[in-house]
Amino acid sequence: MAYSKKIYDTAKEKLSARRVNALNIADYRKEQVFIEIPRLSDIERDLTSIGINTARAVLSGKDAVAELSSLKEKSLTLQNEYKSLLVSHGYDDDYLEPHFVCTKCNDTGYVELNNKTITCDCFKKLLSATACEELNKISPLSLSTFDSFKLDYYSERTDKNGNVPYKRMSKIYDFCLDYAKSFKANSKGILMRGSTGLGKTHLSLAIANEVINKGYSVVYVSAPDILSKLEREHFSYNYSSEEQLMQSLLDCDLLILDDLGTEFTTQFSSTAIYNLFNSRINLGKPIIISTNLDAKELEKAYSQRFISRVMATCAILDFIGTDIRSMI
Ligand SMILES: Nc1ncnc2c1ncn2[C@@H]1O[C@H](COP(=O)(O)OP(=O)(O)OP(=O)(O)O)[C@@H](O)[C@H]1O
Ligand SMILES: [Mg+2]
Ligand SMILES: [Zn+2]
Repeated sequence: MAYSKKIYDTAKEKLSARRVNALNIADYRKEQVFIEIPRLSDIERDLTSIGINTARAVLSGKDAVAELSSLKEKSLTLQNEYKSLLVSHGYDDDYLEPHFVCTKCNDTGYVELNNKTITCDCFKKLLSATACEELNKISPLSLSTFDSFKLDYYSERTDKNGNVPYKRMSKIYDFCLDYAKSFKANSKGILMRGSTGLGKTHLSLAIANEVINKGYSVVYVSAPDILSKLEREHFSYNYSSEEQLMQSLLDCDLLILDDLGTEFTTQFSSTAIYNLFNSRINLGKPIIISTNLDAKELEKAYSQRFISRVMATCAILDFIGTDIRSMI
């Protein structure tokens, strides 16, 4: 997919920092080890001059077969001596080689395949992770964890609907913890419903934290924010930017769409929400939606096909209790 220039440049910088780091470490090690084993430095100089002589022999155009094979032999003997010296001094035989993060592309981001240069998987991953980071800059991810979620805030008394908030919320907590711990790229989605201040955002961010720690990519967005962004790009005919944003929302392993129903609903926004949800479900990728709206309000605000698809594919968690913001 196409990423914005900013994301592309940031990812490229990270990649080149990896490469430079590996080269710097190798240089630094050489400096140290050459003092300890001076013979290594002579061998390296000899290997360089063999390299130059080999190039000369090839360029001379004469029948250089004999000369080339003798140079090759010399080079191999020297390389073996180099390695044995390292090992006999207690180092691995590749201790002075640069150790790149990706051994397929040596952290250049590109590999040759059938005479074609293609983008290495490591660079694709880096681009996707960078796009995630950009989107997550706005979220308060670090504050909300399972550990900081307390059940004491929920009453043990039966409410007017015959439910005990403490019991309900204990179940919801256990469900979310289990969901996060056993998260897979094809996990189900979740719809969190309930009035304000009951811990929906808190628990969805707690899930995000766990899932990120498992190595998955997670994007947290609030519905009004993302919809107004999409709408702005759309109506300023900035289609590539709109497409890119949508793609980042589709690419991540887990999408958290918070505060659904607080956006200003337009034809554009309800279509965008439906498309987003539908595309992720078709890709088998989960989405966690939080909303203040109850079943009736949801049906009023969104199309029937959206609501029925959500109901059919998501676990529904109904949060109950008293606004925790008034207690902390
Ligand atoms: N069980 C809990 N234990 C500790 N803190 C909590 C708990 N539930 C909520 N909070 C805290 O209370 C505040 C409000 O909770 P949160 O934002 O999760 O509510 P919400 O259900 O998402 O509300 P809204 O519908 O208004 O978005 C946050 O600071 C959150 O960290
Ligand atoms: Mg919330
Ligand atoms: Zn690579």
